[in-house]
Amino acid sequence: MKIKVAAGRIEKQKTDGAIIPLFEGEKLGPIAERVDKALGGMIARLLQRGDFKPRPGTVHIIYPEGRIAAERLVLAGLGKRSEFTLNRLRQAAGKAAPYLRAAGATDVTMSSEGIGLDEEEIAQALTEGSMLGLYRFLKYKTNEENDRKKEIRTLTILTENVSLVGTMQKGVKAGEAVAESTIIVRDMVSSPAADMTPTIIADKVRDIAKDFGLKLQVLDRQQMEKLGMGALLGVASGSVQPPKFIIVEYKRGGKKPFIALVGKTITFDSGGISIKPAENMDKMKDDMSGGAAVIGAIRSAATLKLPLNIVGLLPATENMPSGSAYKPGDVLRTLSGQTIEIISTDAEGRLILSDALAYVCRYKPAVIVDIATLTGACRIALGQEAIGMLGTNEKFKEKMREAGEKTGERVWELPLWEGYYDQIKSDIADMKNTGGRDGGAITAAALLSKFVQNYPWLHLDIAAMAWTEKDRPYTPKGATGIGVRLLTQFLRDYEKKE
Ligand code: BES
Ligand code: MN
Ligand code: ZN
Repeated sequence: MKIKVAAGRIEKQKTDGAIIPLFEGEKLGPIAERVDKALGGMIARLLQRGDFKPRPGTVHIIYPEGRIAAERLVLAGLGKRSEFTLNRLRQAAGKAAPYLRAAGATDVTMSSEGIGLDEEEIAQALTEGSMLGLYRFLKYKTNEENDRKKEIRTLTILTENVSLVGTMQKGVKAGEAVAESTIIVRDMVSSPAADMTPTIIADKVRDIAKDFGLKLQVLDRQQMEKLGMGALLGVASGSVQPPKFIIVEYKRGGKKPFIALVGKTITFDSGGISIKPAENMDKMKDDMSGGAAVIGAIRSAATLKLPLNIVGLLPATENMPSGSAYKPGDVLRTLSGQTIEIISTDAEGRLILSDALAYVCRYKPAVIVDIATLTGACRIALGQEAIGMLGTNEKFKEKMREAGEKTGERVWELPLWEGYYDQIKSDIADMKNTGGRDGGAITAAALLSKFVQNYPWLHLDIAAMAWTEKDRPYTPKGATGIGVRLLTQFLRDYEKKE
């Protein structure tokens, strides 16, 4: 889809579908007013009768039949102005664009005025909302040809102020960078585990590294053995798929210290010997969402040419049961030298992360952010509305919260108090890999914290957020691509003073 910014009046724009955003409970703005006049007062009547209430995420279609230049007109609800956020705008675009596609439109125009926020951010949000709302995963549909024909080919964001075109084009570029990366991540996460093995992920990262001139290192099993990554190798021991430890460096920050991003990359989590129930086990192909988000964010950062040094780590393996698999009761020796007693082979994410976190300390990073589909307990705690955040540094937590509000990928902090550490004490090793049902998201993070030395560290638990069973306004059901936009925003604002 080609996205452009143009100056002009929406009622004069020849297009298959025009979209006008409307606030709830207020008079029409000057643009809608003009369109309404051309339509003989149809919009005002609709609102007056209550046939359309411009609540967030609602749409209403009108056929202007020649009275304005557009074939179709879609009114997109924004809700009340007093509650307005950029996310509402993303949602409106994410609803309206697929609605017009389903109606048969291939050329769409959006009006952006009267919204009253920064114009660059508006253009970015409209771009993200439409691209992400239009996303479909068709790779495994054999009759996709018919569907593909019906894609929207051009999207025009319209302004009446010629002097804003340049600014808004910048917003479109940023929106495209993060939306494209999010779409790549959604494709990776949706793909069956058989087609997204550690080896295939390493190949994907290699392609991205080539495109953007990133430095790449992929460690194989032998190299991991030599280093002493006993935790990652323990998890990998049950699988015939060779594990990969993927290290990717993006350098545009001169002598600045590295920002480290570490993503859990379990390409399939069967639970191992502590095998999971059959119900929903198919979803466990999404257990590489953290790693995918890391490469997605680095790809966005590279597209935006951010002046930073970033290192991304993807410890990648399957977690499978077999005769060679690691077992409950085993003790693994991690790269850091600390030992972990295995209570459940299903608590494997924290194990592979313990080696990755220990490894990344070699970079003496300014901050470490890990992102992982780590615990079902996080969903119990926060539901599917927030990413669980834990960590050791107030300044970075605040920055992550701000990035969450801005992108709509919101985070909520859970405490990491001393008492929780008692739950992971082991009788025979330095710690054990589960802490019981109570505070499961927290005890998992407590274990991770033992591997980051004194570097500022944030942990993001996305277990509840990587997959959605229901359509959301710009997130169709399936893989969400969560974390790409959050991490990219965190990186973009990294050096901004409060
Ligand atoms: N990958 C899972 C967490 C998960 C659960 C992600 C549901 C998405 C949906 C993780 O490896 C896991 O199995 N965690 C266990 C930990 C327990 C054994 C301490 C869990 O949450 O049940
Ligand atoms: Mn597991
Ligand atoms: Zn897992």
